[in-house]
Amino acid sequence: MTTKASDVFTLKNKNNMEVTFMAHGGRVISIKVPDAKGNMADVVIGYQTPAEALKGDAYFGALCGRYANRVVKGKFTIDDTEYQLDCNNGDNHLHGGFDGFNTRVWEVEPLELLQYEQAYKLSLVSPDGDQKYPGEVSVTVIYGITNDNQFAIEYSARTTKPTIINPTSHAYFNLKGAGTGTIENHELQLNAANYTPIAEELGTVDGSIVPVRGTPMDFTKAKKLGVTCNADDHQVKLGSGLDHNFVIDGEEGVLKLAATLSDPDSGRKMEVYTDQPGIQIYTGGHFDSSETGKLGAPIQKWEGVAMETQIFPDSPNHEHFPNAILRPDETYKHTCVYKFV
Ligand code: BGC
Repeated sequence: MTTKASDVFTLKNKNNMEVTFMAHGGRVISIKVPDAKGNMADVVIGYQTPAEALKGDAYFGALCGRYANRVVKGKFTIDDTEYQLDCNNGDNHLHGGFDGFNTRVWEVEPLELLQYEQAYKLSLVSPDGDQKYPGEVSVTVIYGITNDNQFAIEYSARTTKPTIINPTSHAYFNLKGAGTGTIENHELQLNAANYTPIAEELGTVDGSIVPVRGTPMDFTKAKKLGVTCNADDHQVKLGSGLDHNFVIDGEEGVLKLAATLSDPDSGRKMEVYTDQPGIQIYTGGHFDSSETGKLGAPIQKWEGVAMETQIFPDSPNHEHFPNAILRPDETYKHTCVYKFV
């Protein structure tokens, strides 16, 4: 291991867009992008220094896994063998457990790839039994930046035994700029006609896939996030805003536009492309202003929106949800692109 937890790396393109991340959790600690007039802002919420990011909220900007999102009661079965993961979120397993990918020191090395202006390769070996998952899993994540303002994340993984996998990135976006207020005025459009409602117990799902039409979850046309976050609706109350997985329309495994987020105040706009079947939209209902973030402002409820490309919550326990199992003769692949337009 040549990389230290506190090591910080920056990707830069010809438009001065900059993505900065730490080896610790692969945490993206800032993304600086221009608006239409060239004014720069840092569009991911978080702390003011890398030192604080090392100690603070374990998920800000982090790579989550092995299984991002929840596995209900931490239980799943592969080939008639039942596994019990650590439960670090009430009775459930969340984002890979107590010591998930987000708290690991990733090995980081620069990478030259034709499609990127700059790129880094992050790698990690998760040993057999890690957080009680079966199999030794070798994970590689490429962070790449292009000159048309794309920040791309490419995941791949191999395992020595059948296991489950579902990594994601947990950056919370605020296109006006971190520390300038909430995302209630941001507009979101999702190419998702369906979503997976959450059950009474936070974040777990009941296995249903429900049309968004006629509900506050309808983002098929661009809509202000505040309209949904402030709606008098049971699902919204359960999620303290949005904390829901949307089923991306179209064919799984093909890179396509899943979401567009825009901020009318700054004019900044971000498109999210993925080959994954789901996207968890989380508006950060648990932030309570007790911590100081960027620009010295308190990190408040709904300050940012995480757009986590993935399979569905608790997929391993619902046969009609996307496959979560990775076998030794397969390679897991997942691409997510955040493009600032
Ligand atoms: C989940 C939330 C959870 C948060 C933790 C999100 O991905 O959907 O329910 O509280 O992560 O940071």
